Order: sequence, then C-alpha cells, then structure tokens
Amino acid sequence: MAKILVTGAAGFIGSHTVDHLLAAGHAVVGVDNFRTGRRENLAVALRAPAFSLHEFDVAQLDALDRLVAKERPAAIIHLAALVSVQESIADPELNFRLNVQATQFVAEAARRHGVARVVFASSAAIYGDTTDLPIRETAAKMPISPYGAAKLASEALLLGHGTAYGFTVRCQRYFNVFGPRQDPASPYTGVISIFERRYREGQAVTIFGDGGQTRDFIAVRDVARANVLAATHPGLAPGAANICTGRATSLLEIAAIFAQLRPGAPAPVLAPMRPGDIRHSLGARAVAAAELGFTAPTSVADGLAELVATSRT
Ligand code: UD1
Repeated sequence: MAKILVTGAAGFIGSHTVDHLLAAGHAVVGVDNFRTGRRENLAVALRAPAFSLHEFDVAQLDALDRLVAKERPAAIIHLAALVSVQESIADPELNFRLNVQATQFVAEAARRHGVARVVFASSAAIYGDTTDLPIRETAAKMPISPYGAAKLASEALLLGHGTAYGFTVRCQRYFNVFGPRQDPASPYTGVISIFERRYREGQAVTIFGDGGQTRDFIAVRDVARANVLAATHPGLAPGAANICTGRATSLLEIAAIFAQLRPGAPAPVLAPMRPGDIRHSLGARAVAAAELGFTAPTSVADGLAELVATSRT
C-alpha cells in the first residue's frame, strides 16, 4: 500500500478519489484551500486514521514543497484547479495562477523530493470544438478558452519535467463528469447537477436547444477509479488518456431518465441554444483501456439513480 498526496481533496472529483484510495487501503494526504472544495465532502474520509488534511493554496510558493518534503508520497494526484471554463474567461489571471502556476509547483515538488508519479486532472477542453468524433488522444489540440489552454500547457509542463527528471506523468482527460457532490448551486456546474436539483424541487428544467445535443457523461465514481489506477497501477508508462465512456447520451435522454426517477415532475421547457455551445462531444476510450486497464462500467441511468438516491430530498 502506498502513500498518495491528493490536491483538491475536498472537491467534487477529489473527495471521491480520496474515498476510493482509502477503500483500497492506501494512506492519503489531502490538500485543499476550500475555495470551491467543501469539508462535508470529506465526512467519511476524515474519520479514517489513514487520512490527513492540510489547508493551503497549492499555487502559493513553497507550501506544497514543504508538505511533499515532509510526507514523501509515492504519487501526487493533482486535482486542485479553477474548474470552470466560464470563470477562466472572466478571470484569465486567476486561471493562470491556479491552472498553470500551481502545476509548475507540483512538477517542482515532484522533482525535488523524488515523487515517482504525478497524475494530472486534464480535460476534453484541450481539444476545443473538434467535430471529428469520437475524439482520439491524437486529435488536434485547439483549446478555445483560457481553461483549455491552461490544461494543455500543464500537460506539457508535467510531461516535460517527468521525462527530464525521471518521474511518470499520467494526464487524465476527463469528459463530462457527473455524480454526487457536484455543487448544483455553482453557476458553473454541469447540466446533470442542475437538472437533479430542479427535478428534486419539482421545477421544470430548461433545455437550451432541441435537446438532441449529446455528451459523453461519465460517473464520478468511475473517474475516481481511473485516478486510483493511474496513481497505483504498476509499471505505467507516461502519457495521456481520455477518461470517458465512449457512449453518447442526449439531453432528452437525460430528462427522460430523471422523469422516470421523479414521477410527476413538470415537462422540460425548451429555450434558445446557448451561444458557443457544441452539439456533440464523445471520447474514444481505447487508450485508457489499453494503458490503465480502465473501462467505465456505470451507465448514465445507474449513475443518475445513485445521484437521486443520495441527494437530499
Ligand atoms: C462545458 C463547460 C462549459 C464550456 C463548454 C465548452 C462545464 C460544466 N461546462 O460545457 O463551461 O463552455 O464545455 O465546450 O464544464 N444545458 C441545458 N440546460 C441547463 C444547463 C445546460 O440545456 O440548464 C445544456 C447546455 O446548453 C449543453 C449541455 O446541456 O448543450 C451540456 O452543458 P454543460 O453541462 O455545461 O457541459 P458542456 O456543454 O460540455
């Protein structure tokens, strides 16, 4: 069993990753500045003796370095980030600090203290608006936001440092992640958490466009498992892989599943398409299957049922 340091430990993906690492018997050192992370996401983890939590900003000079020097983890899973495309457009300086500068500090800490592996939260946003589906890892990288650009820059920073200094870097290109603990109150949250709250409150959801747009929605529990594999699977080569299901689901299908789970809910309201929206997004899953031994078994229907079952009524 290994000691793993997780940045962004109290966030949506981070807290699930911490839970899965602890369940697999690893020791976990968590870091979060609670800018968007929430302590209650770690309610279970905080009761585990193998978990410790440290409150600071990874983008703050030397803070991470000191912790890595003390803890000497076998791997760092770097999930701390500014997580919203819209927020990166509104505040590109903050995006640079949290999504590029912080990554450089992670690379430096790994180099200085002999961390063998770094797992990085990348994103399908690095590909931009490609219409050549499913998107393979070799597709052109043409980000259309500061967020996508920062994720792409961070991949390059980490992979270059890893090769130069001898640590393994795994970049995880997440598609549309959904599930418990995604904050429905955030203006930047994903469509499924918005829909979940509205169905729970008995209000009609709004579909922007005709509802025929599709996404590759992946359950957060599968993403957490992919992170555990990337951090602990023996003998991994450095590289990047899509973390996706390879299955496309339309918004109308999502609304239909919610309507079954919440009988009596009002019908969706159609509104004009959101400017800048892409019509379809779908990932190719072969690289993650071959390199990490990862598949995403949770169907959207099962993931939504779990979300509804665990949400406050
Ligand atoms: C993601 C980003 C978005 C970014 C876009 C770039 C997230 C949560 N969103 O959007 O910031 O601009 O990539 O390609 O990471 N929808 C509705 N009703 C709602 C909310 C959303 O119909 O109440 C629709 C959207 O118009 C969209 C689909 O649902 O067609 C999915 O939206 P979203 O969850 O924001 O994901 P992306 O579109 O992939």
